[in-house]
Amino acid sequence: MKTLLLGSEGLLGSDLEKIFSSDYNVTSFVRKNLDITDEKEVLQKIEEIKPRIIINAAGYTAVDNAENEKDLAMAVNGHAVGYLAKAAREVNALLVHYSTDYVFSGDKEEGYLEDDAPAEVPSTVYGQSKLLGEQELQKNIDKYYLIRTSWVFGSGGKDFIDTMIRLASERDELKVVNDQHGKPTYAPDLAKATQNLIESDSPFGIYHLTNEDDITWYEYAKKIVGKYGSIKGWGKKEFPHIIPVTSGEFPTPAKRPNWSILLNTKFSHLRPWSEALDEYLNLL
Ligand SMILES: NC(=O)c1ccc[n+]([C@@H]2O[C@H](COP(=O)([O-])OP(=O)(O)OC[C@H]3O[C@@H](n4cnc5c(N)ncnc54)[C@H](OP(=O)(O)O)[C@@H]3O)[C@@H](O)[C@H]2O)c1
Repeated sequence: MKTLLLGSEGLLGSDLEKIFSSDYNVTSFVRKNLDITDEKEVLQKIEEIKPRIIINAAGYTAVDNAENEKDLAMAVNGHAVGYLAKAAREVNALLVHYSTDYVFSGDKEEGYLEDDAPAEVPSTVYGQSKLLGEQELQKNIDKYYLIRTSWVFGSGGKDFIDTMIRLASERDELKVVNDQHGKPTYAPDLAKATQNLIESDSPFGIYHLTNEDDITWYEYAKKIVGKYGSIKGWGKKEFPHIIPVTSGEFPTPAKRPNWSILLNTKFSHLRPWSEALDEYLNLL
Protein backbone atom coordinates (compact mmCIF):
# COMPACT_ATOMS: atom_id res chain seq x y z
CA MET A 1 0.00 0.00 0.00
CA LYS A 2 1.44 3.35 -1.06
CA THR A 3 2.32 5.21 2.13
CA LEU A 4 3.87 8.63 2.72
CA LEU A 5 5.79 8.94 5.98
CA LEU A 6 6.65 12.44 7.21
CA GLY A 7 9.28 13.05 9.88
CA SER A 8 10.99 9.75 9.14
CA GLU A 9 14.21 10.64 10.95
CA GLY A 10 12.56 11.56 14.25
CA LEU A 11 12.31 9.49 17.43
CA LEU A 12 9.04 7.88 16.38
CA GLY A 13 9.41 8.31 12.62
CA SER A 14 12.55 6.18 12.44
CA ASP A 15 10.73 3.23 14.04
CA LEU A 16 7.67 3.79 11.86
CA GLU A 17 9.97 3.57 8.86
CA LYS A 18 11.44 0.26 10.10
CA ILE A 19 8.03 -1.27 10.81
CA PHE A 20 6.20 -0.05 7.70
CA SER A 21 9.00 -0.57 5.17
CA SER A 22 8.68 -4.34 5.27
CA ASP A 23 5.02 -4.58 4.15
CA TYR A 24 4.13 -1.17 2.72
CA ASN A 25 5.39 0.80 -0.25
CA VAL A 26 6.81 3.68 1.80
CA THR A 27 8.03 7.08 0.61
CA SER A 28 9.85 8.69 3.54
CA PHE A 29 10.27 12.43 3.81
CA VAL A 30 12.34 14.57 6.14
CA ARG A 31 12.07 18.34 6.37
CA LYS A 32 14.39 18.97 3.40
CA ASN A 33 12.14 16.88 1.13
CA LEU A 34 8.99 18.61 2.32
CA ASP A 35 8.56 21.38 4.85
CA ILE A 36 5.06 20.67 6.08
CA THR A 37 4.45 24.36 6.83
CA ASP A 38 4.55 25.09 3.08
CA GLU A 39 0.89 24.63 2.11
CA LYS A 40 1.49 24.72 -1.65
CA GLU A 41 4.32 22.19 -1.54
CA VAL A 42 2.29 19.90 0.72
CA LEU A 43 -0.58 19.76 -1.76
CA GLN A 44 1.72 19.45 -4.77
CA LYS A 45 3.80 16.59 -3.33
CA ILE A 46 0.79 14.69 -2.06
CA GLU A 47 -1.04 15.03 -5.38
CA GLU A 48 2.11 13.82 -7.14
CA ILE A 49 2.64 10.76 -4.92
CA LYS A 50 -1.04 9.93 -4.39
CA PRO A 51 -0.48 7.84 -1.25
CA ARG A 52 -3.29 5.73 0.22
CA ILE A 53 -1.95 6.44 3.71
CA ILE A 54 -0.12 9.47 5.09
CA ILE A 55 1.59 9.09 8.46
CA ASN A 56 2.62 12.38 10.01
CA ALA A 57 5.39 11.89 12.56
CA ALA A 58 6.82 15.35 11.86
CA GLY A 59 6.42 17.87 14.60
CA TYR A 60 7.96 20.59 16.72
CA THR A 61 8.69 18.73 19.95
CA ALA A 62 10.99 20.98 22.02
CA VAL A 63 8.49 21.58 24.82
CA ASP A 64 10.50 24.23 26.71
CA ASN A 65 11.80 26.06 23.61
CA ALA A 66 8.24 26.30 22.30
CA GLU A 67 7.50 28.85 25.05
CA ASN A 68 9.73 31.27 23.08
CA GLU A 69 8.96 30.01 19.59
CA LYS A 70 5.20 30.05 19.63
CA ASP A 71 4.77 31.00 15.95
CA LEU A 72 6.97 28.15 14.77
CA ALA A 73 5.33 25.60 17.10
CA MET A 74 1.86 26.71 15.95
CA ALA A 75 2.92 26.57 12.30
CA VAL A 76 4.40 23.03 12.46
CA ASN A 77 2.10 21.38 15.00
CA GLY A 78 -1.04 23.35 14.23
CA HIS A 79 -1.58 24.94 10.82
CA ALA A 80 0.53 22.38 8.90
CA VAL A 81 -1.77 19.59 10.09
CA GLY A 82 -4.63 21.42 8.40
CA TYR A 83 -2.62 21.56 5.14
CA LEU A 84 -1.91 17.83 5.38
CA ALA A 85 -5.56 17.07 6.13
CA LYS A 86 -6.81 19.07 3.14
CA ALA A 87 -4.26 17.45 0.82
CA ALA A 88 -5.05 13.96 2.18
CA ARG A 89 -8.75 14.61 1.55
CA GLU A 90 -7.99 15.68 -2.03
CA VAL A 91 -6.39 12.30 -2.81
CA ASN A 92 -8.73 10.31 -0.51
CA ALA A 93 -5.86 9.14 1.71
CA LEU A 94 -6.08 8.07 5.34
CA LEU A 95 -4.19 10.53 7.56
CA VAL A 96 -2.53 9.19 10.70
CA HIS A 97 -1.39 11.93 13.05
CA TYR A 98 0.11 11.97 16.57
CA SER A 99 -0.84 14.17 19.46
CA THR A 100 -0.04 14.34 23.13
CA ASP A 101 -1.21 14.04 26.73
CA TYR A 102 -0.23 17.73 27.07
CA VAL A 103 -3.47 18.84 25.38
CA PHE A 104 -5.24 18.07 28.68
CA SER A 105 -5.39 20.35 31.69
CA GLY A 106 -3.63 17.79 33.88
CA ASP A 107 -5.87 17.72 36.94
CA LYS A 108 -7.76 14.48 36.32
CA GLU A 109 -5.87 12.03 38.51
CA GLU A 110 -7.64 8.93 37.22
CA GLY A 111 -6.51 9.66 33.66
CA TYR A 112 -8.01 10.91 30.42
CA LEU A 113 -10.38 9.04 28.12
CA GLU A 114 -10.26 9.46 24.35
CA ASP A 115 -13.45 11.54 24.39
CA ASP A 116 -12.51 13.79 27.32
CA ALA A 117 -12.34 17.44 26.35
CA PRO A 118 -8.85 18.88 26.06
CA ALA A 119 -8.06 22.02 28.06
CA GLU A 120 -9.47 25.18 26.55
CA VAL A 121 -5.93 26.55 26.67
CA PRO A 122 -3.34 23.88 27.54
CA SER A 123 -0.68 25.06 30.01
CA THR A 124 2.24 24.78 27.58
CA VAL A 125 2.65 26.42 24.16
CA TYR A 126 3.56 22.97 22.85
CA GLY A 127 0.21 21.64 24.15
CA GLN A 128 -1.62 24.61 22.61
CA SER A 129 0.05 23.97 19.25
CA LYS A 130 -0.79 20.25 19.36
CA LEU A 131 -4.39 21.08 20.25
CA LEU A 132 -4.59 23.40 17.24
CA GLY A 133 -3.30 20.48 15.15
CA GLU A 134 -6.07 18.22 16.50
CA GLN A 135 -8.68 20.85 15.62
CA GLU A 136 -7.25 21.44 12.15
CA LEU A 137 -7.25 17.69 11.52
CA GLN A 138 -10.84 17.19 12.64
CA LYS A 139 -12.05 20.24 10.73
CA ASN A 140 -10.55 19.21 7.41
CA ILE A 141 -10.81 15.44 7.08
CA ASP A 142 -12.99 12.56 8.31
CA LYS A 143 -10.65 9.73 7.37
CA TYR A 144 -8.10 10.05 10.17
CA TYR A 145 -6.56 8.29 13.13
CA LEU A 146 -5.52 10.81 15.76
CA ILE A 147 -3.19 8.93 18.09
CA ARG A 148 -2.39 10.59 21.39
CA THR A 149 0.70 9.24 23.06
CA SER A 150 3.13 10.24 25.83
CA TRP A 151 6.71 10.13 27.13
CA VAL A 152 8.15 8.42 24.02
CA PHE A 153 11.52 6.67 24.23
CA GLY A 154 13.62 4.76 21.71
CA SER A 155 16.79 4.74 19.69
CA GLY A 156 15.71 7.23 17.00
CA GLY A 157 16.28 10.46 18.92
CA LYS A 158 16.97 12.17 22.21
CA ASP A 159 14.71 11.24 25.12
CA PHE A 160 14.49 11.27 28.93
CA ILE A 161 16.43 8.00 29.14
CA ASP A 162 19.47 9.49 27.34
CA THR A 163 19.38 12.47 29.68
CA MET A 164 19.16 10.32 32.84
CA ILE A 165 21.96 7.99 31.74
CA ARG A 166 24.22 10.92 30.87
CA LEU A 167 23.51 12.77 34.13
CA ALA A 168 23.90 9.58 36.16
CA SER A 169 27.42 9.14 34.88
CA GLU A 170 28.32 12.82 35.42
CA ARG A 171 26.78 13.54 38.83
CA ASP A 172 26.51 12.05 42.31
CA GLU A 173 23.06 13.49 42.86
CA LEU A 174 20.05 13.98 40.56
CA LYS A 175 16.88 15.88 41.36
CA VAL A 176 13.83 14.66 39.46
CA VAL A 177 10.22 15.82 39.70
CA ASN A 178 7.86 13.49 41.49
CA ASP A 179 4.52 15.20 40.94
CA GLN A 180 4.07 14.71 37.19
CA HIS A 181 2.47 11.41 36.22
CA GLY A 182 2.35 9.80 32.79
CA LYS A 183 2.87 6.67 30.72
CA PRO A 184 6.23 6.02 29.03
CA THR A 185 5.90 4.66 25.50
CA TYR A 186 8.45 2.68 23.49
CA ALA A 187 8.63 4.01 19.91
CA PRO A 188 8.84 0.53 18.24
CA ASP A 189 5.76 -0.60 20.22
CA LEU A 190 3.85 2.51 19.16
CA ALA A 191 4.93 2.06 15.54
CA LYS A 192 3.69 -1.54 15.58
CA ALA A 193 0.43 -0.50 17.30
CA THR A 194 -0.05 2.12 14.57
CA GLN A 195 0.24 -0.59 11.94
CA ASN A 196 -2.18 -2.80 13.87
CA LEU A 197 -4.65 0.07 14.14
CA ILE A 198 -4.54 0.76 10.41
CA GLU A 199 -4.97 -2.93 9.62
CA SER A 200 -7.78 -3.38 12.15
CA ASP A 201 -10.21 -1.25 10.16
CA SER A 202 -11.23 0.38 13.44
CA PRO A 203 -13.50 3.41 13.16
CA PHE A 204 -11.70 6.66 12.36
CA GLY A 205 -11.20 8.98 15.31
CA ILE A 206 -9.11 9.49 18.43
CA TYR A 207 -7.04 6.72 20.04
CA HIS A 208 -4.81 6.71 23.11
CA LEU A 209 -1.81 4.46 22.45
CA THR A 210 0.88 4.25 25.11
CA ASN A 211 2.61 1.44 26.92
CA GLU A 212 0.67 0.40 30.01
CA ASP A 213 1.17 1.55 33.63
CA ASP A 214 1.76 5.07 34.83
CA ILE A 215 4.63 6.48 36.85
CA THR A 216 6.23 9.79 37.87
CA TRP A 217 9.42 11.11 36.28
CA TYR A 218 11.27 10.49 39.60
CA GLU A 219 10.17 6.85 39.86
CA TYR A 220 10.92 6.40 36.19
CA ALA A 221 14.42 7.88 36.58
CA LYS A 222 15.12 5.46 39.47
CA LYS A 223 14.07 2.49 37.32
CA ILE A 224 16.13 3.66 34.35
CA VAL A 225 19.31 4.30 36.31
CA GLY A 226 18.86 1.15 38.46
CA LYS A 227 18.35 -1.13 35.47
CA TYR A 228 21.00 0.50 33.32
CA GLY A 229 23.56 0.45 36.14
CA SER A 230 22.99 -3.21 36.86
CA ILE A 231 23.21 -4.17 33.16
CA LYS A 232 26.54 -2.27 32.98
CA GLY A 233 27.75 -3.82 36.27
CA TRP A 234 28.08 -0.51 38.16
CA GLY A 235 29.42 -0.67 41.70
CA LYS A 236 27.43 0.89 44.55
CA LYS A 237 29.38 4.16 44.33
CA GLU A 238 28.58 4.62 40.67
CA PHE A 239 24.84 4.92 41.27
CA PRO A 240 23.84 8.56 41.86
CA HIS A 241 21.52 9.53 44.67
CA ILE A 242 18.17 10.36 43.06
CA ILE A 243 16.10 12.89 44.96
CA PRO A 244 12.37 13.52 44.43
CA VAL A 245 11.40 17.18 44.05
CA THR A 246 8.21 19.05 43.22
CA SER A 247 7.66 20.89 39.93
CA GLY A 248 7.82 24.08 42.01
CA GLU A 249 11.33 23.19 43.16
CA PHE A 250 12.43 22.41 39.61
CA PRO A 251 10.93 25.17 37.45
CA THR A 252 11.09 24.81 33.67
CA PRO A 253 9.98 27.34 31.02
CA ALA A 254 6.97 25.14 30.13
CA LYS A 255 4.59 24.27 32.98
CA ARG A 256 3.77 20.64 32.28
CA PRO A 257 0.51 19.02 33.48
CA ASN A 258 0.68 17.07 36.75
CA TRP A 259 -1.67 14.28 35.72
CA SER A 260 -1.57 13.33 32.08
CA ILE A 261 -2.30 9.63 32.08
CA LEU A 262 -3.88 8.53 28.80
CA LEU A 263 -6.48 5.77 29.16
CA ASN A 264 -6.92 3.42 26.23
CA THR A 265 -10.51 2.20 26.09
CA LYS A 266 -10.76 1.70 22.32
CA PHE A 267 -7.90 -0.52 21.13
CA SER A 268 -5.69 -3.45 22.20
CA HIS A 269 -3.37 -2.50 25.02
CA LEU A 270 0.38 -2.28 24.55
CA ARG A 271 2.62 -4.17 26.98
CA PRO A 272 3.74 -2.52 30.27
CA TRP A 273 6.45 0.11 29.72
CA SER A 274 8.81 -1.67 32.17
CA GLU A 275 9.02 -4.69 29.84
CA ALA A 276 9.79 -2.42 26.91
CA LEU A 277 12.35 -0.51 28.99
CA ASP A 278 14.20 -3.76 29.86
CA GLU A 279 14.33 -4.67 26.19
CA TYR A 280 15.55 -1.22 25.18
CA LEU A 281 18.22 -0.87 27.89
CA ASN A 282 19.64 -4.27 26.97
CA LEU A 283 20.19 -2.96 23.44
CA LEU A 284 22.19 0.09 24.58
N1 LIG B 1 8.48 12.46 22.04
C1 LIG B 1 7.44 12.39 22.85
O1 LIG B 1 7.58 12.15 24.06
C2 LIG B 1 6.05 12.60 22.32
C3 LIG B 1 4.97 12.54 23.23
C4 LIG B 1 3.67 12.74 22.75
C5 LIG B 1 3.45 12.98 21.41
N2 LIG B 1 4.51 13.05 20.55
C6 LIG B 1 4.22 13.36 19.15
O2 LIG B 1 4.73 12.32 18.32
C7 LIG B 1 5.15 12.86 17.07
C8 LIG B 1 6.59 12.44 16.80
O3 LIG B 1 7.41 12.95 17.85
P1 LIG B 1 8.96 12.62 17.98
O4 LIG B 1 9.28 12.58 19.42
O5 LIG B 1 9.31 11.47 17.11
O6 LIG B 1 9.57 13.98 17.39
P2 LIG B 1 11.05 14.30 16.90
O7 LIG B 1 12.01 13.25 17.29
O8 LIG B 1 11.31 15.71 17.33
O9 LIG B 1 10.90 14.25 15.32
C9 LIG B 1 10.11 15.16 14.66
C10 LIG B 1 10.59 15.27 13.25
O10 LIG B 1 9.83 16.28 12.59
C11 LIG B 1 10.68 17.00 11.74
N3 LIG B 1 10.17 18.34 11.45
C12 LIG B 1 10.14 19.41 12.27
N4 LIG B 1 9.62 20.47 11.63
C13 LIG B 1 9.31 20.05 10.37
C14 LIG B 1 8.76 20.69 9.24
N5 LIG B 1 8.41 21.97 9.25
N6 LIG B 1 8.58 19.96 8.11
C15 LIG B 1 8.93 18.66 8.07
N7 LIG B 1 9.48 18.00 9.11
C16 LIG B 1 9.67 18.69 10.26
C17 LIG B 1 11.97 17.08 12.50
O11 LIG B 1 13.01 17.35 11.62
P3 LIG B 1 14.27 18.24 12.08
O12 LIG B 1 15.11 17.31 12.88
O13 LIG B 1 14.86 18.67 10.79
O14 LIG B 1 13.71 19.38 12.90
C18 LIG B 1 12.06 15.70 13.14
O15 LIG B 1 12.74 14.77 12.33
C19 LIG B 1 4.95 14.38 17.18
O16 LIG B 1 3.70 14.71 16.65
C20 LIG B 1 4.92 14.62 18.67
O17 LIG B 1 4.20 15.79 19.02
C21 LIG B 1 5.79 12.85 20.97
